[in-house]
Amino acid sequence: AATVTYDFDVSWVHANPDGLQTRPVMGINGKWPIPPIVATKGDRIIVNVKNSLGNESTSLHFHGLYQNGTTHMDGPVMVTQCPIPVGSSFTYNFTVDQPGTYWYHSHNKGQYPDGLRGPLIIHDPDSPHKDLYDEEIVLTFSDWYHGLMSDLLAGFVSIANPSGAEPVPESSLVNETRDLPISIEPGKTYLFRMINMGAFAAQYVWFEGHTMRIVEVDGIYTEPTDAEMIYMTAAQRYSVLITAKNSTDANFAFVGSMDQDLFDVVPDGLNPNVTGWLVYDSTKDNPAPKEIEAFEPFDDFDLVPQDKEELYEHVDQTVELNMKMDNLNDGANYAFFNDVTYVRPKVPTLYTVLSTGSNATNPVIYGSNTNQILLKANEVVEIVLNNDDPGKHPFHLHGHAFQVVSRSEEEAGAYDVSAAADLPSTPMRRDTVLVRPNGNIVLRFKADNPGIWLFHCHIEWHVASGLIATMIESPLDIQRQLAGNIPTDHWDNCRAANVPTEGNAAG
Ligand code: C2O
Repeated sequence: AATVTYDFDVSWVHANPDGLQTRPVMGINGKWPIPPIVATKGDRIIVNVKNSLGNESTSLHFHGLYQNGTTHMDGPVMVTQCPIPVGSSFTYNFTVDQPGTYWYHSHNKGQYPDGLRGPLIIHDPDSPHKDLYDEEIVLTFSDWYHGLMSDLLAGFVSIANPSGAEPVPESSLVNETRDLPISIEPGKTYLFRMINMGAFAAQYVWFEGHTMRIVEVDGIYTEPTDAEMIYMTAAQRYSVLITAKNSTDANFAFVGSMDQDLFDVVPDGLNPNVTGWLVYDSTKDNPAPKEIEAFEPFDDFDLVPQDKEELYEHVDQTVELNMKMDNLNDGANYAFFNDVTYVRPKVPTLYTVLSTGSNATNPVIYGSNTNQILLKANEVVEIVLNNDDPGKHPFHLHGHAFQVVSRSEEEAGAYDVSAAADLPSTPMRRDTVLVRPNGNIVLRFKADNPGIWLFHCHIEWHVASGLIATMIESPLDIQRQLAGNIPTDHWDNCRAANVPTEGNAAG
């Protein structure tokens, strides 16, 4: 195994990726788009971050990585670290034993839609699919806003927006651009690693004239499964094999199309699509894509993990989360789990674990607004999430891939335990899953990874509204692993940010 090291100096640069507006974006080493992080299973990854933004603190999260034994490298601010203040540095240092398609992004104040988001690819010399393709290509899709997140967020959670209407993106990007020709060699097979790095919109993705064969979702290998069109929520990933045609007679469009059901109001003139081309012959025209109605969306619930991991039949702890969006008395709209909206604690939750001894197993010390859930070592946990809201939400759990054991249609209401007889025997696993409007999902995982792991909606607007719970998994094991082993930059950053590092998160 190797050590791969990245030196990332984060600063504002200017970019105009949709050709409609130049705006400040968060770049790395003076450039944007930011570089991918690429490693091989078993490697150590070291990312030295310097915050040269000048006006905002930051952090990085490595979405989908389990961070086994290194929860302090997970990145969410006020959960496992303090913000990296302006002018300060912080080193992320961890090993990766999981192959697949991931991404990295800021986990501070809804910041990644300002551009601090990039692919994270872990190669696998033992991949069951490695003989099935000749070449791999990473494709990121995302919605794009012309405004800065700091401004948009201030308007979003304010009394001027009592309905909680989310800002609607101005356009959609593929590989952070509007125009992406990919030259294709006849007869070759390509692995496309696709990532939705957007803030809000799910993307329908299709390749005209070609079938996608899904082989991986969110870092989990699947039984190869064909799809015409994929529905990829914010933060989800799909790897698909595409076999090129044997002739160069024509070029073909591929499209990412934003799911406009998410938008309260669709502005006139919004183009929900971004189009790229499989170019077999660059002297030929690139044809206009077909309408979305020509394609049938694939249901990810039908996927089977390649390892055929069986359903966890026996559940030790059920966590019921009833979510809704509503006003508090200040007139602004918030999001709630069981009537509590998440508020950042005064002490990062990990540091509360590390500084409270045997009290770390008492949920009360984590504060009344962190939606804290204590998990015991190696128990099987079931999350039942009932969506009492007419919107779609992509839920993500840090530190684990979960089995998706049930997912209702929309308007099904709360989960009915008597339906439990029909659970799939080898459920798909992933780290981000959609719950439908006024529907429910049931997820299971084994608490075999001590750490502080957020569970949240990956729509950045809803992170700001407080749609977050905190899993505190085996806190005494976290103490055993990490007490005395936290690098000093953790404490230096807290000191520079004036954040206390000990005692009750409740403050
Ligand atoms: Cu993409 Cu909390 O993460």
